[in-house]
Amino acid sequence: MNRRRFLTTAGTVPVAAATRRDGRPDFAAVREDFPRARLSAYFDNASCHPLSVHSATALHRYIDWETNEVGEPWWPLWAKARDESKNLFAKLINAKPSEIAFARSTIETESNLLNGMNIQAGGGNVVTNDLHYTAALYNYKMRQKAGLDVRIVKNRDWVTDVRDIERAMDGKTKLVALALVSNVNGYLQDIKAISALAHSRGAYVYADIIQCAGAVPIDVKAMGIDFAACSTYKWLMGVKGYGFYYVREDLQGTLAKPTQHSGGVQFNYAPWTREPDSSREEVLFNPVTGPGRYEVSYPSYEGAIAAQESLKYIHALGVDNIRAHARSLTDRLQKELPAIGYPSITPKGNESSICAFTCQDPAKTLEKLAKAKVHVAMRFGNKMRIAPSVFNNHEDVDRLLAALA
Ligand SMILES: Cc1ncc(COP(=O)(O)O)c(C=O)c1O
Repeated sequence: MNRRRFLTTAGTVPVAAATRRDGRPDFAAVREDFPRARLSAYFDNASCHPLSVHSATALHRYIDWETNEVGEPWWPLWAKARDESKNLFAKLINAKPSEIAFARSTIETESNLLNGMNIQAGGGNVVTNDLHYTAALYNYKMRQKAGLDVRIVKNRDWVTDVRDIERAMDGKTKLVALALVSNVNGYLQDIKAISALAHSRGAYVYADIIQCAGAVPIDVKAMGIDFAACSTYKWLMGVKGYGFYYVREDLQGTLAKPTQHSGGVQFNYAPWTREPDSSREEVLFNPVTGPGRYEVSYPSYEGAIAAQESLKYIHALGVDNIRAHARSLTDRLQKELPAIGYPSITPKGNESSICAFTCQDPAKTLEKLAKAKVHVAMRFGNKMRIAPSVFNNHEDVDRLLAALA
């Protein structure tokens, strides 16, 4: 499809087309919004979700403006999209907009939180687990080598037992940091039990929510999550390099100290000012307050614009409906793949959109799938991760099962 055709067709598909009269989403219409679904049975949404025509159209508009227009005033034109993306994300996780900062990467944000908490200086420790993302675990290994007390809880049969977390904790535990949904096998942590445990011991909870925001209902208040982060290129259906950082309001600037800053310095001496104030420093430091204290420079406007559209889309569908749709597909995969020789490493009844299976011959499995134009992820050697989203359907599952039968 050439670009002009794309823009005209894409522009004519309103979000409302994704909703039936009875108020329930029409997932066949949703599939039409994701052109990639026509090309293959794409199940690798836990790596990177395709863009909908709506986000793509919005991005094309932005690129056109960046390329062909100056605009007056030049950038606040897009500030509305930026702020709306934040408000829509806050609503998605039941936070206040004043608890959300723009972020660039989930992993970078977790690292910034650790820098800001400076747990090592107080002799505290961090508890995490082996179902967390590998780059996060590397960050902990690096800090461990520099002297931070890090405790990595091992899974038992691909599940983290809350009692193991409890055993790893002591009076000096300051943070329990986990991926709410694991990228390894989609395991959804028993977050309420973990938060209750952490809080009862005076510790706080960080949740990496990149594998669930947009796909699994999240309520940071009800779940007892103190800090959370994600970027938008997975279940939020946006692009890389743009995301959100949730910091519970009462912890901002106190427990979680900012570690980097936006601009805003003022010089209190000539020639910068004609009337220096001798009672004050020469270079003034008045950092911003609120969630902006965790932001550096400008957020990606490309990211904000894509996320504004995709978050509107996710809200229009409803996360409960998205969950129900994915559940019908993962339930089938969980039942039928083990029967043809692919044992599951995702617990039964797990409430996320990701499931994973072990393969005897990963190379052969990938070859068969490629031939049938089915995309999955093969991770950790022989673990096949399948992550259906809103545009996948039972024909996609048929195609996958037929290829592997
Ligand atoms: C659980 C989890 N956390 C973090 C990341 C990386 O996130 P980011 O690119 O936003 O740093 C991934 C990417 O696959 C992931 O699965």
